[in-house]
Amino acid sequence: MEIKLREITPARVRSALLAVPVTDRGLEDRLVRTLDRGLHGRLGALVKKSGFKAKSGGSLLVATHGAMPAGHLLLVGLGKHEDKRLHDWRVAGAVTAREAARLWADEATFMLPLDQQVDAVVSAVAEGALLNGYRFTRYRSNGNSAAALRTLVLGRTAGTRSAVLARAVKRARLAASAVALARDLVNEPPSTATAAYLAEQALASCQGQGLEVEVWGKRKIQQMKLAGLLAVNQGSREEPRFIHMRYRPKGPARKKLALIGKGITFDSGGLSLKPARSMETMKLDMAGGAAVIGVMSVLPELAPEAEVLGLVPATDNLPDGGAQKPGDIIRYRSGKTVEVMNTDAEGRLILADALTLAAAEKPDCMINLATLTGACIVALGNELAGLFSNDDALADRLMACGRDAGEGLWRLPLAAEYREDIKSNVADIKNVGGGSAGAITAALFLQEFVGEVPWAHLDIAGPAFASKEHLTHPKGGTGFGVRTLLNLLSEI
Ligand code: BES
Ligand code: MN
Ligand code: ZN
Repeated sequence: MEIKLREITPARVRSALLAVPVTDRGLEDRLVRTLDRGLHGRLGALVKKSGFKAKSGGSLLVATHGAMPAGHLLLVGLGKHEDKRLHDWRVAGAVTAREAARLWADEATFMLPLDQQVDAVVSAVAEGALLNGYRFTRYRSNGNSAAALRTLVLGRTAGTRSAVLARAVKRARLAASAVALARDLVNEPPSTATAAYLAEQALASCQGQGLEVEVWGKRKIQQMKLAGLLAVNQGSREEPRFIHMRYRPKGPARKKLALIGKGITFDSGGLSLKPARSMETMKLDMAGGAAVIGVMSVLPELAPEAEVLGLVPATDNLPDGGAQKPGDIIRYRSGKTVEVMNTDAEGRLILADALTLAAAEKPDCMINLATLTGACIVALGNELAGLFSNDDALADRLMACGRDAGEGLWRLPLAAEYREDIKSNVADIKNVGGGSAGAITAALFLQEFVGEVPWAHLDIAGPAFASKEHLTHPKGGTGFGVRTLLNLLSEI
């Protein structure tokens, strides 16, 4: 989708669709009254008849029947005037793109109200439209059947600073392209999207000023004693990869961050085999890794003033004759030992390696993203990710970044009460807890490998993959977490 900034007069817009954002109060505004007059009172009549109240996510479509050059007029709800949030603008952009696609419109114009021509709003509108426009059509033989808007014009009135707005649009484009990459990686079928494939995609996508990618194969993984990754990979025909990405800013780095993503390219459970229904969507299990690769891929253009290390341990989790068995013990490079009671709790086993390596670099903070537990879905559903952290300041910042991004996070406790649940009879710890509080015991397991480094763990098992369409994404991989992390990085 192309996004253009153009100076417009609403009554002269020739796009197939003219979108006008309104709050509940805006319905009384002069602009809406002028448009209503142009449409011979039909707009006002329809507002009444439909009970349109300008709720966020709501819209009202009116055909102009030649009364003005635009084919259709779309009122787009922004919610209550008093408690407007940035995310409402993103939703408005998404609604515009969706309605335009339904009309098979090639071009839509979104009118930026004069008092809202600030970069954050422009960014949010553009981002919403771009996110809505994402399609995964690689495997459709009739690729054209997915209607998508081609051009969105952001209509501004005379006298606004277009350079600032152009930068805002660029930011939206970067975020949307990082998200699209993450979604593509998740949506790709698991027999194609192997560990080697993920590594190739990281190499291909992470290029540019200051960004380097190094891929470790099995030999190097053995040399580095990444014992968790090797143990999980034992049951597979595909060799593992450990993807190592690093961004260095041009100038001095104010901070050093590590981002770590779970890269299980398919989770069958291993010998602790999952039932068939639970396996249907288990190509999603590298969504954390995909998010990290997506974020890294845009850092040269985003140019944050921080050094960013991105780590993705990657393998599938399968049960062949060589597979690890319940009762096996893994000895990590740090010396710590883990008894594997359930081979389906594999994510934490490979994250342990990556957290250990990242912690050794003494970053200012590290953040891991993982589709880690079904228990987190039980607790928070599919719309929210669980946030665990040993650092309140980091947790608060992530919560704020998530709110602005429209990615819901909810903090859950690293409750010491459950530490004894991961004690083992024979090793230092075991990889499953006592049955309940599964999201917490998984997080406590990870914490064993982070030392004193400020750290946050996002359990994205719920929101990483959508079984129903949303305004900002179709069914399938969502790219959840990418925009929260980009917000965090651009604040540094
Ligand atoms: N990848 C799964 C978690 C998951 C479940 C993600 C559903 C998305 C949707 C993870 O590896 C897993 O299997 N976890 C087990 C842990 C248990 C064996 C302690 C789970 O949640 O059942
Ligand atoms: Mn599993
Ligand atoms: Zn898994």
